[in-house]
Amino acid sequence: MSSGQGDPEEVPSSAAVFFDAVAGFYDRVYAIEGADHRARMKLLVELLGPATEVLVLGVGTGRELPALLDAGHRTTGLDCSQAMLRKCADRSRHGTLVHGDFWHGLPFEAGAFGAAVALHGTVAHPPSREAPARLVAELARVVRTEGVVVLELPTLAWFERYAGANAAGPGELHVAGGATTFVDRRSGARIDGCLVAPEVWVDAFAPTFACTLHLPSQDEATLVARRQACP
Ligand SMILES: C[S@@+](CC[C@H](N)C(=O)[O-])C[C@H]1O[C@@H](n2cnc3c(N)ncnc32)[C@H](O)[C@@H]1O
Repeated sequence: MSSGQGDPEEVPSSAAVFFDAVAGFYDRVYAIEGADHRARMKLLVELLGPATEVLVLGVGTGRELPALLDAGHRTTGLDCSQAMLRKCADRSRHGTLVHGDFWHGLPFEAGAFGAAVALHGTVAHPPSREAPARLVAELARVVRTEGVVVLELPTLAWFERYAGANAAGPGELHVAGGATTFVDRRSGARIDGCLVAPEVWVDAFAPTFACTLHLPSQDEATLVARRQACP
């Protein structure tokens, strides 16, 4: 597993601390299971089209990898949590794995990928309201013309499903003045972010990608963006 960036002295982000803390039980407590997972992966593979190099942002324990690899894609998984990456590296097939924080740039060459994906809460905790636009600019750099980006974006209903509103959920969400803090019930680990509506993401993509926003339920929204040729 390679390290894409980062000063060893740098303070780890709350995402890295949170996912290091939950990695041991993530698959049991947070991951999407069974028929829902299979339906999402089937849709993802259809949306991506022909086999290509796929950047998997927030690869986590690698639950999306079998479907992508079975479809012939070559994958590079990026994650800020070393503990999640170690779980992923235990898989017999895991493609290339890179340690890094995607809010601080993508440690890849321009045009390195034919597609990119970020699923199931991966981009749910932007550290600022400007962070989505910075990530989209990086995706525009590393994804080739006509390449597809698929992001699952949280709605407030999505947060509530995982949060205090749902007493059986794995964590508790606090929202104050557009800032969010999600606290895992088991470990007490917390992850901080900003509440960003799916439409803000669409606006960030609009200059360089052709976008469609699917709202299949009031839960996660799926944004599909196709990289346009540079003017
Ligand atoms: C909710 S998990 C989803 C994992 C996987 N995509 C799945 O569906 O099971 C989010 C993953 O994104 C990673 N992540 C969150 N913020 C990140 C960031 N800024 N840079 C890199 N990885 C990040 C976390 O460490 C975690 O593994």
